[in-house]
Amino acid sequence: MKNQQIIIDQLPTGKLSAQHYRLQDSDIGHPGPGEILVRTEAFLVAAGSRAGLQGSASYAGAPTTGIVMGGTGVGIVVESSDAGFAPGDKVVCSTGWQRYSMHAANALQKIPAEIDAIHYLGPLGVNGLTAYFGLLKVGQPEAGETVMVSAAAGSVGHLVGQMAKIRGCQVIGIAGQDHKCELLVDQLGFDAAVNYKQGDYRSALKEATPNGVDVYFDNTGGFVLGSALFRLNVNGRIACCGVVSQYDTDAPEPGPKGIPGLLVNKRIRMQGFLVFDYLALYAAARKEISGWLDSGQLTSMVDEVKGIESAPAAFVDLLAGGNVGTRVVLVE
Ligand SMILES: NC(=O)c1ccc[n+]([C@@H]2O[C@H](COP(=O)([O-])OP(=O)(O)OC[C@H]3O[C@@H](n4cnc5c(N)ncnc54)[C@H](OP(=O)(O)O)[C@@H]3O)[C@@H](O)[C@H]2O)c1
Repeated sequence: MKNQQIIIDQLPTGKLSAQHYRLQDSDIGHPGPGEILVRTEAFLVAAGSRAGLQGSASYAGAPTTGIVMGGTGVGIVVESSDAGFAPGDKVVCSTGWQRYSMHAANALQKIPAEIDAIHYLGPLGVNGLTAYFGLLKVGQPEAGETVMVSAAAGSVGHLVGQMAKIRGCQVIGIAGQDHKCELLVDQLGFDAAVNYKQGDYRSALKEATPNGVDVYFDNTGGFVLGSALFRLNVNGRIACCGVVSQYDTDAPEPGPKGIPGLLVNKRIRMQGFLVFDYLALYAAARKEISGWLDSGQLTSMVDEVKGIESAPAAFVDLLAGGNVGTRVVLVE
């Protein structure tokens, strides 16, 4: 039995390309005392991982080469030297981009048999929890308010918009392609969606938000944040979730105009957050999100890519806007 791993071969200096990675075969050991060997079934391709390669993600440490690309995955226990886990158990953990990984028991979480494991990479995983806490704890929307979200057809974004609808808000999405905007409105119940790449974007945004915006969930930073700022109402809230527009470069742009002037004049609260801040509340959040999935109020869109060797290209493509919903690599 051999492992297959995607290794970070070089750190990108400009845009990321698949050539920054290499596929490597390696041996797999047997679990030592308290260890568990997991076979990956699927792993998440997440935009935030690009910040890790850039060195701008505080939680990821300094970027380095020669290591397995990190990431969350779901898998099956193959061998266990821990009494709490048995072969066949489904688990979620930091598998990284590889076929097999070894873990201490406290690094694994069991997935209940009745739940589709892929949900632990989407609505019940890091991105779903990010949507939930960023919207509800940081944005604090009230029923009847207008919530706007960028990268709205992405993994975090499509969940944010639907959660805001569940809370009785008007929801506007911003995305980079017309077909994404159509999907948000036609399939996910957004009230409007605007393509930030279209020529008359600023007027379209104004038209889509006749009552202004009370909560803006910012996944992108950059130009999109700059345009959103001008639509915020007095006492508006901005939940700063991520800066995907500035990840795939070694020369990130400075922040947009209007900060802090607009924040002062409109008494806007702009707050960054990391999902890990809410670790103690994950179980309760998962219970509520599961209820929404079961009742059909929340739809999880999963964008599947097949084969571990496809992961680098799938990541590059995600950064260019190729995904709809949560992109996962199925390790076949
Ligand atoms: N704070 C936290 O704890 C936390 C946790 C998880 C994720 N995040 C953040 O959440 C955000 C979304 O992550 P995700 O994994 O769900 O990714 P995603 O939204 O599924 O994929 C990234 C999307 O970003 C959009 N994009 C790319 N370049 C852009 C640009 N220059 N301007 C505007 N949009 C651009 C693309 O869609 P378009 O077609 O619309 O351009 C692309 O599909 C990221 O910023 C990530 O860092 C934060």
